[in-house]
Amino acid sequence: MLSKLLSVSALAAVAQAVSVSVASSGGNATSPYAYGLMFEDINNSGDGGVYAELIQNRAFQGDSVFPKNLDFWNPLGGAKLSLQNLSTPLSHALPTSMQVAAGNSSNSSSTIGFSNVGFWGFPIVEGWEYKGSFWVYGGLDGNVTICLTSDQDEEYVEASVEVSSSSEWMQYNYTFTPSTSAPNSNNTLNFTFAASDLSGSVNFNLLSLFPPTYNDRPNGNRVDLMEAMAGLYPSFFRMPGGNNIEGLLPPYWWNWTTTTGPLEDRPGFPGTWGYENTNGLGLIEYLLWSQDLGMEPILAVWSGLWLNGTTVPEDELQTYVNSALDEIEFCMGDASTTWGAKREALGYGPFQINFVEVGNEDSLNGGAPTYSAYRFNAFFDAITAAYPNMTIIGSFYDIDGATPPFNASGDFHEYAIPVQMSSQFGFFDNYTSAHPLLLGEYAVIEYDQPNTTEPTWTVGSPRAYFPFWYGSVAEAIFLLGAERNSDKIIGASYAPSFQNLNRWEWIPDLIEYDAYPGHTTLSTSYYMIQLLSGTRITENLPMTITEGGFNPSYFVAGRSDVTGAHIAKFAVYNSTGSVPFEFTFAGVSSGATGNLTYLTAPMNASNPVAGNLVTKHEQTVTAGSNGTFTFALPEYSVAVLEISATTAGSGHNYGNPGSRHGWKGWKSWGRDAHHHGTFNQYGQVVQFSANETTQSDLFDTIATVSARIANTGNYSTAEVTQLYLQIPGAGTRALRGFAKMPIAPGTSKPVTFSLRKKDISQWDTVSQQWVQPKGTYQVMEGASVLDIKLSGSYAL
Ligand code: AHR
Repeated sequence: MLSKLLSVSALAAVAQAVSVSVASSGGNATSPYAYGLMFEDINNSGDGGVYAELIQNRAFQGDSVFPKNLDFWNPLGGAKLSLQNLSTPLSHALPTSMQVAAGNSSNSSSTIGFSNVGFWGFPIVEGWEYKGSFWVYGGLDGNVTICLTSDQDEEYVEASVEVSSSSEWMQYNYTFTPSTSAPNSNNTLNFTFAASDLSGSVNFNLLSLFPPTYNDRPNGNRVDLMEAMAGLYPSFFRMPGGNNIEGLLPPYWWNWTTTTGPLEDRPGFPGTWGYENTNGLGLIEYLLWSQDLGMEPILAVWSGLWLNGTTVPEDELQTYVNSALDEIEFCMGDASTTWGAKREALGYGPFQINFVEVGNEDSLNGGAPTYSAYRFNAFFDAITAAYPNMTIIGSFYDIDGATPPFNASGDFHEYAIPVQMSSQFGFFDNYTSAHPLLLGEYAVIEYDQPNTTEPTWTVGSPRAYFPFWYGSVAEAIFLLGAERNSDKIIGASYAPSFQNLNRWEWIPDLIEYDAYPGHTTLSTSYYMIQLLSGTRITENLPMTITEGGFNPSYFVAGRSDVTGAHIAKFAVYNSTGSVPFEFTFAGVSSGATGNLTYLTAPMNASNPVAGNLVTKHEQTVTAGSNGTFTFALPEYSVAVLEISATTAGSGHNYGNPGSRHGWKGWKSWGRDAHHHGTFNQYGQVVQFSANETTQSDLFDTIATVSARIANTGNYSTAEVTQLYLQIPGAGTRALRGFAKMPIAPGTSKPVTFSLRKKDISQWDTVSQQWVQPKGTYQVMEGASVLDIKLSGSYAL
């Protein structure tokens, strides 16, 4: 017994000692989606956040909730700026433009113009290629100079565009690349021209500037924030809300039809979090984002509830049910369908959707009675009739009820204080596995306070500004409780994901940032999730606890059918000292070695802006007699022990994963068997099934391939210029849609790209084995099935 081996001085720890034997059979298969992301535009997380557009109020969008205005624009050189609804608008969606007149500076030698303050500043980074554009209408003949300028009037970089007077709207493009980085983001973007070039006035609209984007996508996402999300190994993506899908009041809701197509056709939307959304980040962008990070989309459709409590009456609901059906068809219909053809016309192949959530938190604001009476069923019936394999998720769920209210999954949200969250390890133990739950939002949002058992929801309640370490450990206990029951849980996503440090409506958040890339901050909860998500258990195994028990330490154990590793995960809460563990895995021999990784931080610590107080400890542990691993974990720690198949010893045998019960699998859970393809150990898509070709035309996406590519440091010029796929019988094909991507030596990046049928000329010769490992490159983290070759100066 462990306690007999410890000295008297260790008595405090002895009282908490834990001994566990992990069986080699009898467990449950787990959900492949265990950890994911939830996103809505809150805290300027879309506009001014992950959506990389740098100009704020770029198209003077507004409505009866947020009237159109000239906020974030300032005149230069005495110019007079005004909003105009011209008889010749830029577009139906963007009817209002900014008119510029000479104002008080009619001196013909003067320079006039306007500047934008960005989303509280502009990042100026040496070597970044910025791409911009703007539309002009009216009397201007001459050069417009566009310049990134500091608040000290230092001009970092500029472009010049020759503009001609025109009686129709004309679009101009510009690019520039700074040769020096600015020390902060206290910079503006200035547009200037000679007053003498003006005849009367000129009108501008849809003025845009993008830095480099993730995967070089046009209208794409901010690189550092996408890389931060990729670092969590997310398996699913719940979007586009949250409350932001609901709309504040009629007639506004997240109407997907206004979020697709050219930007000049997107009117914007009065977001529910206090600011106008441009909808530059629209439905296609969300799906590309899913694809780029290898995540399974969980598409939320509007369910007929506005946040002010108004609901759509039953006899008017069909319009919105039809809109949801159109939306799904737009995502995944082939070119022969009405909405699939519209997507194809925009240049995109189908995006497979396997999960649809009906609304968001429809139990609130008086929504529950109508949701139960007719709203949920109307969507459920219509969608399952058209897509029998689709998993439908209700937007709330009564966890205390043993019987699901609907023939569907439910979305359970948990915002809590630490004492509450840390007591929920067994929360799902008695829940049914017949209708797995999505944990679509969770977070510890306040510190513990005397006599308080749950958050205070009144305005001004004492929220934590950032996640803090003992709250993050409490969240880990909740997540281990979900993992322990992962035949019943689809997966969990922290919410909200992002906070712009200049304007936010909800704290705490997972990742903080502002316009200056050096300020991006990964919270304590981020590092906790990264550790737990980064090592996936695909089969839970029964544990026999022979000494100690749960509280103050919590743990799960199992193994991975992808890596063959045995795995145990731990959270140690308020233990008053280190907790000694003895862990024995049936089939693991003495002398086997395991990697023990654990995180610690000062109990109350929140990560400072751009800093990290979470320490990662790594040690090798060796199994003693009977294959027992002996180690200790400190108070307030989160840990993963991983014993790889290669070190486990002769008794190790993973067995046949196909015969295990538990997680129902995608067929019964909605993931269409014809599309499920291949996944890595994080549940991320690495290859869709070749079956998808059967209904594809030449332009259909037939496979999406994701991998993480590492530059091992051997290559001084770190730029992947092309990717190739080797196809037995069809030779080597270059993959389209993959622009050059810099990868610094010693670092790695996830890549995702679409393979279209037109990329392969002899498709009939392509078998299911068309992806073969080649080993001529380093591919990390579960991508070993991919046959990706780096070309150009990187050919190995
Ligand atoms: O995550 C912030 C908000 O919390 C979400 O918009 C809503 O779903 C929940 O109430």
